[in-house]
Amino acid sequence: MSISQIAKSIKPSPTLALNEKAAILREKGEPVIHLGGGEPKSRAPLDALIAAAAHLSTGEIRYAPADGIPELKKAIIRYTEEHYRRLVAPENIIASSGAKQAIMVALQTILNPQEEVIFPAPYWVSYPDMIKLCQGIPVPVLPADGTFYPRLQDIERRVTSYTKAIIINSPNNPSGAAYAEEFIADIVAFCEKRDIYLIMDDIYHQLIFDGRKAINCYKYAKDLSENSKLILINGVSKLYAMTGFRIGWAVANKKLIEAMTNIQGHQTSGPSVLLQKAAVGALNGVQSCVESLRMTLENNRNVMIARLRGLNGVKVRQPDGTFYCFADFSAYGKDSNTLSSFLVDKVLVLTVPGAEFGMEGYLRLSYCGGLKDITEGLERIKWALDPDSPNELYLGNRKLVRDWA
Ligand SMILES: Cc1ncc(COP(=O)(O)O)c(C=O)c1O
Repeated sequence: MSISQIAKSIKPSPTLALNEKAAILREKGEPVIHLGGGEPKSRAPLDALIAAAAHLSTGEIRYAPADGIPELKKAIIRYTEEHYRRLVAPENIIASSGAKQAIMVALQTILNPQEEVIFPAPYWVSYPDMIKLCQGIPVPVLPADGTFYPRLQDIERRVTSYTKAIIINSPNNPSGAAYAEEFIADIVAFCEKRDIYLIMDDIYHQLIFDGRKAINCYKYAKDLSENSKLILINGVSKLYAMTGFRIGWAVANKKLIEAMTNIQGHQTSGPSVLLQKAAVGALNGVQSCVESLRMTLENNRNVMIARLRGLNGVKVRQPDGTFYCFADFSAYGKDSNTLSSFLVDKVLVLTVPGAEFGMEGYLRLSYCGGLKDITEGLERIKWALDPDSPNELYLGNRKLVRDWA
């Protein structure tokens, strides 16, 4: 079959593939534990459901403007004012079908073929393929000091005349690292000085722990004019447990938003009006659900970290936010794909191989599920990996026998 060069260069999304795998195993009645997921298990906020239902009941579900309905833009303006202390105009905003589309459309708007986009590793699985879809060149940067915290000098070294943008995602998927305020200040200043687009992927910005405060990139921007090359990405997926609603947005200068709107208009048109109404409900509704999710995640993180630290040979840094742990399992296998498959095959626990995030030997484990899944999942992993484990393990009334070294 003849398909394009671009299509050939794109890998399937490993996290979506994993969700499918979990669903198939569950359908077969297998007692699978999914520690590979990227979505909170809480229900969507009632305000979101009511808002969508009210619009649905009118029976008039029409096309939405390509850049989002005015009501959602108003809610995003309020959100940006509250969380970023910045007043923007409706023309500075585009609502998209998820933060994923907002990032994709931003990249399509700024990239010419062969232009480079730098981002620290470990990175969100989609960045390299999104950049390739725009015929750009992904440039991942591993922190030279072996931590999950990028340093400006490591990024600076990779900047060339082809560098068009830098993507920063903090708190970070998959490491959970919240980058230091000083680093954010430096990268904002650096991009301004070098006239490089800075895409701040803030999708997890309120999900931070240990009393940390979300960092506001605008605080360090000297240029807040319509020439600013700062693009702020956000959405309702993670904070409000609304992954399936597919609403995200970008805040940027008006010319860029206009160009993004042209592209999105031909691509998908505006996101479904029903789902935009739901996002308005979430953003304008009772906000205690965000804090309640944050506290649950912090508690889940503590449980997961304590269990992981009980696993001989596994090295793990405590995540500062998000709902992921990125643990070094290289003592049990250098090839993370093989190790991850082994854990599914032997003990029905799904994890995401570190290779997908640009770091071999690691596994990403999510703590966005229930505590029972976390504790049982890690017990199963320990049983599978620890050579001193008892020979048998019962999953319900199914007996597993440890017939490997
Ligand atoms: C870092 C990062 N950015 C963006 C997204 C996309 O979120 P959305 O569901 O709004 O498309 C995700 C989702 O996993 C993510 O982890």
